[in-house]
Amino acid sequence: MTYASISSWNPRSKINKSITVHSYKGGTGKSNLSANAALILAKRGYNVVLFDFDFRAPSLNALFQMNGTQYWINDWLAQRCELTEVLVDLSAQFHTKGRFQVGFTNPSGKAINEMTIHSLDEEWQARVLQLVLDGKDLLFERHNVNFQIFDTSPGFAMSSINAILAADELILVIKMDQLDIVGTQHLIRGVYNQTLGKKPELIVNKVPCSMLQTPDDYKRLKIDLSKKLGVGIIEIIPCFCEVMENMGQTLFVEKQPDHEFSKSIGQLASYFELGN
Ligand SMILES: Nc1ncnc2c1ncn2[C@@H]1O[C@H](COP(=O)(O)OP(=O)(O)O)[C@@H](O)[C@H]1O
Ligand SMILES: [Mg+2]
Repeated sequence: MTYASISSWNPRSKINKSITVHSYKGGTGKSNLSANAALILAKRGYNVVLFDFDFRAPSLNALFQMNGTQYWINDWLAQRCELTEVLVDLSAQFHTKGRFQVGFTNPSGKAINEMTIHSLDEEWQARVLQLVLDGKDLLFERHNVNFQIFDTSPGFAMSSINAILAADELILVIKMDQLDIVGTQHLIRGVYNQTLGKKPELIVNKVPCSMLQTPDDYKRLKIDLSKKLGVGIIEIIPCFCEVMENMGQTLFVEKQPDHEFSKSIGQLASYFELGN
């Protein structure tokens, strides 16, 4: 299904937020958290657009079992099509109350190579930023979109920096791993605060259950990491074998809505709804 007239999708509210989900290291859970939170928001009645902005390792196609589409995000950025032609409407498939659309990135080796070549091209990147900013206005102002969520590449990728620059809210996802904690510290101080003048908030994901045995353990971890990294922590999510067993093959909140992981994602969606 491709993008059709949006006029029938009345917005549930006046919320207009673009959220970029980023991390220092890969495998922290960005794609799973972004996709599941986006789905919950659409189920709650919001119009949501989810973007795969990880051009090194596109993953939303696998998560949504999308084998092909007429246009990819790559085509929009190369100006071979309009943004609205890229978005795939998954509202009917997921029975959402709000409109749920996803922009997929081409996972083929050839497309990844092309994007890698463009990654250091300053002119290309400046144009990408302009396209993202124009797309943001278009979707919010003309298409009644409430939430735009960008799932990005980890680390210092220029495409991620563009998504960070365009976003209203920034979420960093971190694992309980010393390398990740130290790297995230540098990312926050050097890139977010100093270079981009932005303040992210943190989700701590995949925390070993042995570290979270009592409510006090959650509180202590929150205070400790918040102090160390100088940012607010919006969610601490344990590592669940059931999520690993799902193998990223389906959207977990759809499959197991009552699981603790799905409840955490529900809280994250509420945070996006209600703000801080
Ligand atoms: N809380 C969690 N508990 C267990 N496994 C998780 C959790 N969050 C994510 N995962 C798993 O971690 C792996 C990496 O997640 P992914 O969303 O692809 O990370 P990223 O996009 O940051 O690279 C996936 O196999 C996913 O199912
Ligand atoms: Mg990912």
